[in-house]
Amino acid sequence: EKGGYDHFMLKEIYEQPNAISDTYRGRMRVAEGIIKMAGIDDNLAKLLNAKRILIIACGTSWHAGLVAEYIFEELVRIPVEVEYASEFRYRNPVIHQDDVVIAISQSGETADTMAAIKLAKERGAFVFGVCNVVGSSISRETHAGAYTHAGPEIGVASTKAFTTQITVLSLIALKLAERKGTISNSDFHYYLQELERIPEKVKLALESNEHIKLIADTYKDAKNFLYLGRGYNFPVALEGALKLKEISYIHAEGYPAAEMKHGPIALIDEQMPVVVIATKKGHYDKVVSNIQEIKSRKGKIIGIVTEGDETVKGLADHVIEIPETIEFLTPLLTTIPLQLLSYHIAVMLDKNVDQPRNLAKSVTVE
Ligand code: M6R
Repeated sequence: EKGGYDHFMLKEIYEQPNAISDTYRGRMRVAEGIIKMAGIDDNLAKLLNAKRILIIACGTSWHAGLVAEYIFEELVRIPVEVEYASEFRYRNPVIHQDDVVIAISQSGETADTMAAIKLAKERGAFVFGVCNVVGSSISRETHAGAYTHAGPEIGVASTKAFTTQITVLSLIALKLAERKGTISNSDFHYYLQELERIPEKVKLALESNEHIKLIADTYKDAKNFLYLGRGYNFPVALEGALKLKEISYIHAEGYPAAEMKHGPIALIDEQMPVVVIATKKGHYDKVVSNIQEIKSRKGKIIGIVTEGDETVKGLADHVIEIPETIEFLTPLLTTIPLQLLSYHIAVMLDKNVDQPRNLAKSVTVE
């Protein structure tokens, strides 16, 4: 059942190239330049006229929501707010009739997310679901939706759900942007082509596995980890830290790289591994100067870089390369090495990777 892999988590990490293509297949027609998604097509006017998009989710799904916030605002120019479902309904949120709520949930059974959906519906919002489990409670409670086609995710640590959620949310953003005219036709076509190339690039990113294992061995005894990223890769930093916490029980924090100087930089010494997502484009020069700040305080730097990068290689203790792609799709690639790093550290520490202590696959209590 684990298909020759030692753990479900590793199997699911390796399933990502297929999970991503299964998620866009049949929806994205690159040659014709169209995206067809029933849940979007049937509600197009509502979505295009939304004054605001509210995204509600928990955990990894919330991180996918943060990536989507950046993508929607950039491509569709509709303001987006991302909320923890667990906070949303406890603070009398302002919800308008012309708000569109997007609820993201792998399991479709998360109690906090379900409760937030019910509140949004009571207040008249249109609620769109992005779920993985077909027929799940959330997929039934929402007005419309689009499934991720990740297949069953068994490992408690979410991996392929995250990348397929970003895939679905990118498709939605692209479709709306094309209809709204907020991106040019040629960019639209180019973006579709780039999305189609992502599964091949994920495969290339997975080829760093052995190299990542060596890095894991070097830092497995660290007591703390810091993860830094900017822009589209800030949520990836949060997700990398969550993965490590969950399965290895090592304390880790994710931060926007530029926030470091407002506090967390005080933590940095020679004991502190810092994972920095420093891909080309995404404020690259700024991230390079953040890396220099860490280096001068003797932090250990693990850089996630675009292939062929020389600058960060010259500064960092280790680099892990990922293929180049357009900026808003980089989270689909930068996440891969972070998943593998936490996986190997947890295995080396002899932790129960697929079923970490105190956690359940779906959290059905509020
Ligand atoms: O099934 P959901 O996507 O609603 O689950 C939300 C979170 O409980 C989930 O992402 C959790 O944070 C994962 N264990 C993270 O790896």
